Amino acid sequence: MAATTSIHGMWSGRLAFILAATGSAVGLGNIWRFPYAAGEHGGGAFVLIYIFCVAAIGIPIMMAEIMLGRRGRQSPINTMRALARQEGRSPAWQLLGWMGILAGFLILSFYSVIAGWTMAYVVRAAAGAFSGVDAAAIGAAFDGFVADPERLLAWHTIFMVLVVLVVARGVASGLEQAVRFLMPALFVLLLVLVGYAATTGHFAAGVAFLFAPDFSEVTGASVLAAMGQAFFSLSLGMGAIMIYGSYLNSQASIGRNTVLIAGLDTLVAVLAGLAIFPIVFAYGLEPAQGTGLVFKVLPIAFGQMNWGTLFGTLFFVLLVFAAWTSAISLLEPMVAWLVENMSFSRVRASVLAGLTVWFLGVACLLSLNVWSEYRLFGMGILELFDYLTANILLPLGGLLIAVFAGWILSRSSSVDEFAMGDRVAYRVWRFLVRWVAPISVAIIFFHAIGVF
Ligand code: PHE
Repeated sequence: MAATTSIHGMWSGRLAFILAATGSAVGLGNIWRFPYAAGEHGGGAFVLIYIFCVAAIGIPIMMAEIMLGRRGRQSPINTMRALARQEGRSPAWQLLGWMGILAGFLILSFYSVIAGWTMAYVVRAAAGAFSGVDAAAIGAAFDGFVADPERLLAWHTIFMVLVVLVVARGVASGLEQAVRFLMPALFVLLLVLVGYAATTGHFAAGVAFLFAPDFSEVTGASVLAAMGQAFFSLSLGMGAIMIYGSYLNSQASIGRNTVLIAGLDTLVAVLAGLAIFPIVFAYGLEPAQGTGLVFKVLPIAFGQMNWGTLFGTLFFVLLVFAAWTSAISLLEPMVAWLVENMSFSRVRASVLAGLTVWFLGVACLLSLNVWSEYRLFGMGILELFDYLTANILLPLGGLLIAVFAGWILSRSSSVDEFAMGDRVAYRVWRFLVRWVAPISVAIIFFHAIGVF
């Protein structure tokens, strides 16, 4: 019989879980990473492939992660070990959990640096720094900011402290309130921005860029990037959703909740794209300008629109919260493991994990300025961590989760955990998780690295 509660605490109910998981999914991945990745990979075809990956790979894997987490009720490492043991399989399955911890460390290290940018932009927006400033000056101000390691370090440090503070107290308290009010507010502000983008006269160009696919532009690398974006944006493949599933009560419907979370996440990403690209075209900017895109484009809108200082400040405040709720889920799996296996208090575990991430983050932020000439595979450390996690570690983790849930875990266990008997929905899930998800991930992966 599976445990019914986790030693780390439980969500107060189904809504709390949805809020927390949505808080994990919606973050910089939607508003910072999705537009810049879509911009670099040519738009329409990338977006379509992304949506396909969310539906056919992301949703079944998210269901699998929640299901495994709820069955194991421990940190991903111990959950995988326990579930493998129950099925008479090798304890080596716990390596999946270890890979997730590594991915979590690497992601959070650069995530925190970017979240630091959004905090700095709260201050800039509030100070009216964008009012009436032209696109070139806004771009130059961003470049100057990123070139200054001291400022980046200060914001990165503040953000990590905020993350550790929440994780140390336990994620169930505080998170619910934050997400319940702030996510809808972020959504409304995105709509305001899309409304502004519609007045630029280039809305159609933005829509066409995002949705008119040009498949001649598609390469193995862009398909891999779209799949990686789906994993990153849905928080899949590293145990964040698994651990959140372990705090979910046994009655909640996994299928319905997953579809809702994935739908909201995708909607926010698309809205961000609709807010950004019309402005990109209206000002003759380059869609493929990389990680600075959002920070160079949205301030133009805030500088031009009525109430721009207010909207801009609010927008960046909400973005900080969105990043915060995602970052918390990135740290939680390793903290849970430290508490389980090292008998650390939550406070000690959070501080230790946070410090490790902080050090890695310092390397990331230095790679933008002082160390900018050091490159590996043509990338600086920040870019390399981003690429390595989204395009390799998360899909690989997701592949293993799908294989475990579809092939290793007994059918009766997954039927029991989903509590949806042998209905059509269950059979669709099982088909996707056994065949479609693992095979697609493997093909996309091997194709991109040039195996065929
Ligand atoms: N999904 C988060 C975002 O889009 C990032 C994240 C990735 C969080 C992996 C947890 C795990 O911002």
